[in-house]
Amino acid sequence: MEYRTFGRLDWRPSALGFGAMRLPTVSERRNGISTHQMTDIDEPRAIELIRAAIEGGINYVDTARPYHGGQSEVAVGKALLDGYRERVKLATKLSLSPRWIQAAEDLDPFLDGQLERLQTDHIDFYLLHGLSRSRWEQFQGMGIFDWAERTIADGRIRHLGFSFHDEVALFEEIVDAYDWTFCQILLNYMDVEFQAGVRGLEYAATRGLAISIMEPLRGGQLARTPPPSVGAIWTEAGDQRTPADRSFQWLWNRPEVSIVLSGMSSMDQLEENLASADRSSIGSLSDADLAVYNRARDAFMALNPIPCTDCKYCQPCPQGVDIPLAFSAYNEKTIYGESGRGFTAFMDYLARGTGAERCVACGTCEEACPQQIPIIEWLKRVTSFFGLDSESA
Ligand SMILES: NC(=O)c1ccc[n+]([C@@H]2O[C@H](COP(=O)([O-])OP(=O)(O)OC[C@H]3O[C@@H](n4cnc5c(N)ncnc54)[C@H](OP(=O)(O)O)[C@@H]3O)[C@@H](O)[C@H]2O)c1
Repeated sequence: MEYRTFGRLDWRPSALGFGAMRLPTVSERRNGISTHQMTDIDEPRAIELIRAAIEGGINYVDTARPYHGGQSEVAVGKALLDGYRERVKLATKLSLSPRWIQAAEDLDPFLDGQLERLQTDHIDFYLLHGLSRSRWEQFQGMGIFDWAERTIADGRIRHLGFSFHDEVALFEEIVDAYDWTFCQILLNYMDVEFQAGVRGLEYAATRGLAISIMEPLRGGQLARTPPPSVGAIWTEAGDQRTPADRSFQWLWNRPEVSIVLSGMSSMDQLEENLASADRSSIGSLSDADLAVYNRARDAFMALNPIPCTDCKYCQPCPQGVDIPLAFSAYNEKTIYGESGRGFTAFMDYLARGTGAERCVACGTCEEACPQQIPIIEWLKRVTSFFGLDSESA
């Protein structure tokens, strides 16, 4: 395992961190896509996986209250028994939701519940979860920094950071608003100008923040066999790495990146990603290598996929539309086409079961979407693409 630096802290994080948002579940995952809303975590497998990750050198585990309906924190807590807790830094998040937090007095019980589920007396890295303009204002309205400093003083949390899903200008404003230890941003070689993006990465690093990366594989999309027009670019460049490996190496190449979190859901994935981390180093990619990534990005973007990462923050839809599934079906069919990977018909079937045509444009989903996808407009296009508008008319 390669170990890197973590902002101003005298601590070396493993290049690869374990994201506990997509743990193995008992019931079969629909369309092969894991979901952090499934609560039936296969605990023996999840515990085995997390412990194997730690044995493989991973020293950072990231979870959050909403993952797997609260069961991720429970599973992580169990995995870290028997001496494993002392071998890792543990990160979880302060997640604003009216279900749990409506005012400042809800903060202590929320954190105490997390400590109980995680079976620990402290959180090493505590994040204000998924900051957008409105969440940032809500947190400030609660006097969050006074609370955090009291909580650091009483030892329940060690360091404060934030994760981010909004535009880069807000990101810079937030970076400058407090003496943060770290932040977590979405970044991969496709999404270089999305949300914080590369500009935000560089900005936070110059301010001394450690940066952990979420969605390095775009929720798994970049680990799949690329569509033919993109695959041809890698082949022509003589690149024989696996899709996941080339995605990770692009991030580890950057000096600003402290940890790349991946939500691994099987032992095979863990082993592949550990091996990938072993090969990593800052500056491993040449300008020529980076130019190939740029060409691959352009080719992929030319296919015009919807930038949905299956986070499911848009769910549940009041009309029962399975938005992530509709978008996944659309993306698969648009990218891979009729001669794609043999399940175009299957994707058609799924699209028919998503209820995309039931959208009444209420906008609840667009308010919740961390990627700011114009969902209503896309649902219209998906409905029409799959011919569902004519059926429902
Ligand atoms: N703070 C926030 O707002 C926020 C938001 C998102 C994520 N996060 C954190 O960041 C972590 C990382 O994000 P992510 O889970 O989206 O990471 P990711 O690495 O982009 O996606 C993980 C998915 O990629 C697939 N995968 C991983 N390794 C693979 C391999 N070697 N070969 C093939 N497929 C592979 C798996 O999909 P399958 O399960 O389908 O096989 C896995 O579930 C999360 O787990 C969570 O802890 C935080």
